[in-house]
Amino acid sequence: MSEETLSNLSTETRSFEPPAELAAAANVKADAYAAADADRLAFWAEQAGRLDWAEPFTQVLDWSNAPFAKWFVGGKLNIAHNCVDRHVEAGRGDQVALHFVGEPGDTRDITYAQLKDEVSRAANALEELGIEPGDRVAIYLPMIPEAVIAMLACARVGATHTVVFGGFSADALASRIADCNAKLVITADGGYRRGAPSALKPAVDEALVKIDNDNTAIVENVLVVRRTGQDVAWNGDIDVWWHEVVDESSEIHEAKAFDAEHPLFVMYSSGTTGKPKGILHTTGGYLVGTAYTHHAVFDLKPETDVYWCTADVGWITGHSYIVYGPLANGVTQVLYEGTPDSPHKGRWWEIIEKYKVTLFYTAPTAIRTFMKWGRSIPDGFDLSSLRLLGSVGEPINPEAYMWYRDVIGGDRCPIVDTWWQTETGMMMISPLPGVTAGKPGSAMTALPGVGADVVDEAGVPVPNGSGGYLVLTEPWPSMLRTLMGDDERFVDTYWSRFKEQGYYFAGDGAKKDEDGAIWLLGRVDDVMNISGHRLSTTEIESALVSHPRVAEAAVVGAADETTGQAIVAYVILREGALAEATQGEELVAELRNHVAKEIGAIAKPRSIMLVPELPKTRSGKIMRRLLKDVAENRVVGDTTTLADSNVMDLIAAGAKTST
Ligand code: WT7
Repeated sequence: MSEETLSNLSTETRSFEPPAELAAAANVKADAYAAADADRLAFWAEQAGRLDWAEPFTQVLDWSNAPFAKWFVGGKLNIAHNCVDRHVEAGRGDQVALHFVGEPGDTRDITYAQLKDEVSRAANALEELGIEPGDRVAIYLPMIPEAVIAMLACARVGATHTVVFGGFSADALASRIADCNAKLVITADGGYRRGAPSALKPAVDEALVKIDNDNTAIVENVLVVRRTGQDVAWNGDIDVWWHEVVDESSEIHEAKAFDAEHPLFVMYSSGTTGKPKGILHTTGGYLVGTAYTHHAVFDLKPETDVYWCTADVGWITGHSYIVYGPLANGVTQVLYEGTPDSPHKGRWWEIIEKYKVTLFYTAPTAIRTFMKWGRSIPDGFDLSSLRLLGSVGEPINPEAYMWYRDVIGGDRCPIVDTWWQTETGMMMISPLPGVTAGKPGSAMTALPGVGADVVDEAGVPVPNGSGGYLVLTEPWPSMLRTLMGDDERFVDTYWSRFKEQGYYFAGDGAKKDEDGAIWLLGRVDDVMNISGHRLSTTEIESALVSHPRVAEAAVVGAADETTGQAIVAYVILREGALAEATQGEELVAELRNHVAKEIGAIAKPRSIMLVPELPKTRSGKIMRRLLKDVAENRVVGDTTTLADSNVMDLIAAGAKTST
């Protein structure tokens, strides 16, 4: 990366010290780094002590067959026992585990004692349906308690789950069921989405037909939760109602212990072309990693905090930071079914006010949406219970960070910007809220026990003030173990780029600032090359979003005859700005100059399109590939993973009229 680019990135100078009170009482203090550095494996062995082990492990890490790791060798444990039963046994059975909020307004508080009964019933039902340890179960549910219960029940009986996000199509579901040979599918008639019931069961039916056609059917049963009450087609040979088999089962279930390396779940990664990658996580290391990081980064005090992670359990964030890490720590948390704007745009803030949420974890894309809607909405609610805010999924623009801190956090709550991936299973780079002075836009430093660095093409760590590739330098307990059925692709994708050094290649560009703090620059494939200068899409997006009229921006590098690549930006204006923007050309010129002013003339976009929406995956990632197709006047590629498939038609139509 060129020096010019890097110096342009170093303009953010604000930083925020941890609040004194939080720092004084923090779960994890500065000495954790030194302790972990002194003996990393001893550090992780100590963290393993957070869990109940039925049989102790004899070795912390077996790395003799790297990059295939075995953590906590010889140890045995049951995940559901650790996430549920032991809290009841410790006398905390009456504590609420889940404050469920349905989108239509129905609510359900589930205590740990009730959760234990529900998970045990579901575990008995799974066994009655013939599920054995090692069998695969696909879960395709809305954000309702049964999703959490189903995952824990699978873990309890040793079945490997694969949760497929409810927004995915029948085709995506079919390919995942087939890839992992699921024996059972757990679904619902439907869920509530934007004020209306949205069917799920038909997609399962369709997926099974598709799989049958391929002659790969091994699905023996479909277990159906009744959520919306809508009509469903019924195949009496395989379909069974949850309320008939689970509710009728005994609430007594003995949880057997499984090996620390027993497969816990497969999560398919989105956004890549070709066959989805089935990322495999196992039992002991995964739970140690997620429990420790949740305790450390959210400073969780299970007796007094109310935690809310807005992710869907269909994504890794929901697995690690709704289900496994938080429940292992005995959390009280909110589980919300619906969208942020149903029935009104203050729904999330209303929930925070009602349940007095203290710890809140969401994504920059959501924050920017709220910015667009305006601060008067959150300002109408009492958010004073909040004491810590988290961010995940993409780099958070300094503008969004400051808005989050000021408007949501009352200028009082530290923000933890947590970098990690489906593959890492747990947060890897993040501030510690009681230790780190956070800088807006930086994920700061590797957590205790984690090794991260920024290296050049040759794998040599770059000096502070320079950029390169983000790598993870040491194995960690919740690392992916392989890609399901494809060890070779696992090695190729993550471990071959810096084979000599034995580093894990994360696929992200990053820089270290003068203090050694890490700034993520987006995926390496999102880094553009303009006239031989490397520029990150994130950097230019940040500049655009820092303009008072811009709500959201996406930038792509489009092929250009003279400069190699040219910057093309797609911009959504803030509400209110649209009406004034009748002079589109003037505003575009102003925005180009604004970027030039913020970063330098090299970063001035060749063209800027004012658009009503951006193409996003259902997890909120902008699909720049599609924007690039428009920018390069190509037929727009595969849009099947878009949350809203009409968006590209709107943008492409706009591009035609504006050129
Ligand atoms: C990619 C992983 C981790 C759960 C959600 C996404 C980007 C994630 C951050 C952050 C900058 C981030 C990276 C990473 N990313 N968090 N705090 N700052 N970038 O999981 O779908 O596996 O995506 O998301 O590019 O590689 P995922």
